[in-house]
Order: sequence, then structure tokens, then C-alpha cells
Amino acid sequence: MDPTQFQYVIRHGKKLDFHEFSNEMASRTFNYPRLSEAKFPQLSDHMHKIYKIMQGKPLDKLTDSMMINLQHVFKWKFSQATDWKTEKMYQFCCSIMFEASFMTLYGRDPVADGRKVISEMREKFTKFDAKFPYLVINIPIALLGDTKNIREELIHFFMPTKMDKWHDQAEVIRARKDILEQYDMLRDHDKAAHHFAFLWASVGNTIPATFWALYYLVRHPEALAAVRDEIDHLLQSTGQKKRPEYGIHITREQLDSLVLLGSAINESLRLCSASMNIRVVQEDFLLELEDDQSVSLRKGDFVALYPPALHKDPEVFEDPEEYKYDRFVEEGKEKTTFYKKGKKLKNFLMPFGSGSTICPGRFFAVNEIKQFLALILIHMDMELIDFKPIGQDNSRSGLGILLPNADVAFRFKLREFSD
Ligand code: HEM
Repeated sequence: MDPTQFQYVIRHGKKLDFHEFSNEMASRTFNYPRLSEAKFPQLSDHMHKIYKIMQGKPLDKLTDSMMINLQHVFKWKFSQATDWKTEKMYQFCCSIMFEASFMTLYGRDPVADGRKVISEMREKFTKFDAKFPYLVINIPIALLGDTKNIREELIHFFMPTKMDKWHDQAEVIRARKDILEQYDMLRDHDKAAHHFAFLWASVGNTIPATFWALYYLVRHPEALAAVRDEIDHLLQSTGQKKRPEYGIHITREQLDSLVLLGSAINESLRLCSASMNIRVVQEDFLLELEDDQSVSLRKGDFVALYPPALHKDPEVFEDPEEYKYDRFVEEGKEKTTFYKKGKKLKNFLMPFGSGSTICPGRFFAVNEIKQFLALILIHMDMELIDFKPIGQDNSRSGLGILLPNADVAFRFKLREFSD
């Protein structure tokens, strides 16, 4: 619970291992065999090596593709919004982000009606996701209504014979497919279940994170105006027009330069993320902490860091319950200095986990949310219809981004432009 000590846990990536816990939990939840080294030598290692395709320069392609797919999905929404249109905000974010992320990662079947297939999958995904916290805590799936059938149907979307037909798959998905193909011990069903697990990782947290980022901006018009101004300046400086028919192009580097937008996203992540970092002790040892303190750990013990307590700590974040969109900006740059007990914190915002197992999709996730928000702020005027503040559904506390406890109605309309 003391963030000044987190670094002493995080640096012991080998003795305090995440995968022993996550492998067991994921194989049970997504229904594939455990990735034991004896049965599937180096499979886990190979999978981790390809995650670098989602970072740095290789991320450019994924980011560009997401921008094209988002505009493709938004086009349909924009065409309906010449006058005010009302929708539920979570539902809105979910349909757009699911479809655009899915096409960016997995591509599409050129023959089938892609939109229909993806929307069927989204409906099933939402039902599965609602039961996800129960599966993680080991409630037998047989007690969870239709969840077992729904999971099977979702897995079947990813059977190799189906996936082979999809065009424009992202490099990271193709690389995962190639690795899984090398293991004869894996049945087609197991390979499909691995792809389904990756789908969950890629949208399960991103969708609620997108919702909160949009919700807080629409709820705080001064924040929305400041962030929109930053984006408008970028468009002006790159000579781009704002009408939806022209299309917008924002590079990965330009997204990085949008510090106010980045800060607004970080602030919503601070308020809505509840990922617990769990580690299993691999051998008896003395964990040395600061100021000559230490803890004696036994093989098999669990160690958990609980970042939500840090995220709401008034000593680190003044008025922690308040949304301050520019909390993570200082002198026009990203603010990275936060203190506890007079000490500068190495880890002050941890929605993506920590250390060697930190989420490999974190840069892509933040870019996707930035792209979604940039497009909607450029093209739409938005207002809340329900003003009653909504709360958080705590059922997935410890597991990632919390969902809202109710959906919220908002209305949107295409902005009017003179250019
Ligand atoms: C793992 C959070 C988006 C792929 C994780 C972990 C967290 C996390 C907390 C566990 C790390 C640990 O405990 O050390 C999030 C959040 C996201 C997000 C909050 C969005 C806001 C994504 C996206 C992708 C992705 C977009 C892929 C496109 C993964 C994968 C793992 C993972 C593959 C497992 C890594 C491993 O096996 O070591 N994520 N994630 N995530 N995430 Fe994300």
C-alpha cells in the first residue's frame, strides 16, 4: 500500500513472478491449456518477444490503420448526426471502439458482411465480459448461465480456417498465429482460444477507459474546450480541414505532442483504473525495502500492489476525488513529478501494471483513445442529457478499468464549419 516501496517489489521480476498467476487464470478463463514450459517449450517467451511490434516505430503502422478504421466507423455515425442525435454513451463508445480495434488487429473477411459479424461478436463479448470477474475468482462456469456456450461461440470465431480468410491482419496477430502454428500439441480450438484471450486483452479495458475519458470531458466543458483547442491547433499547423469528408491524418509523433489530451486521458485513468499487480514468490527470500526495512517471503506467497490507493492518495494528488484535466501537465510538458513523504515517486500512475510484465499494448491503447477523442472533438458538438453523476461498478476491482454502474444519455451533432 505504500507507493514509495513499490519499486523494491517491481525490480524483482524473476523472484516475484506474474505469469504463474496470470497463466493459470487466463487458461481457465479463456479455456486453453496452461502454458507450461514442459509441454510447450518457449511458447510464453516467443509470445512476449513479439509484443515489441506494438511499441516504438512499429506502432506507426498500427496507429495509422486504427485512424483509418475509426474514421470508417465514425462516418456512419456522422451521417446520422446532421441534427441532434441521442445515444447511450457507453454503448456508443463500445460499438465504435470494438469495431475499429477489431478491424485494426484482426482485419476482415472480404466475403462475409463484416459489420454484421463484428456486431454479433460484440454482443457475445459483452455478455462474456459481464461474467469475467466471476471466472477470474474461480466460480465454475457451469454456474454462470449461458456463459460456457457464449465463450465457445466466441472462440469459434477465431478457428484457423476462419482466420485464414481475413485480410489486413496486424503484424502482431500474424506473428502470434505463426507461433501458435509451430506447436502440434495445440488443437485448433486452443489456438482460437488464445486469439480470443488477446481480443479480450485488447478491448476489455480500452472500451471502459475510452468511455471515462469521453464522459469526463463532456461533463467538464472547460476541459473539453481546452483539449479541443489543442487539437484544432494541430490541424491548423498541419493544414488539415475539419469536415469529415476530407479525412484526418495524425501521426504517432503528433499524437504524442498532444499533452493536454494525454493529461485528460491520464486523469480519467487515475480515477477509473483498479488494476491490482499480483506476484507469486518463486523462492524463499528477504525482500529489502527502504530505510532498512525488510519482509521475509516464502515460496508460494502472494505479493500484491494496489495502485488505486495511490491514485486516490491526497498526499500525492491534491483533491484526489476531483477531475482536473490538466493535472498531468507542467509548463506545457507532461508532468512526471509526484511526491509522497517528500520522496519523488518512480511509479505514480499504474493502470497498465508494472515492471517486466507491464501491459505491452499500453502505447497503442493510449493512442487509440487519443484518436477516438480527437475525431469526436473535431467533428461533433456533444452534451449530456443525464446530469446525475454516475458511479463505478466495483465488481472488477483489482482486475482493470472499472465499468460505470449505469449508462448515460448524451446527444451529439456535427459541428458547423466555414472551411
Ligand atoms: C496485460 C491493462 C490495453 C494487451 C495487462 C495488464 C494490465 C493491463 C494491468 C497486466 C500487467 C501486470 O499486471 O503487470 C490494460 C489497460 C488497457 C490495456 C488499462 C487499456 C486502457 C491493451 C491493449 C492490448 C493489450 C490495447 C493489445 C492490443 C495486453 C496483453 C497483456 C496485457 C497481451 C498480457 C501481457 C503478459 O502476458 O505479460 N494489460 N491494457 N492491453 N495487456 Fe493490456
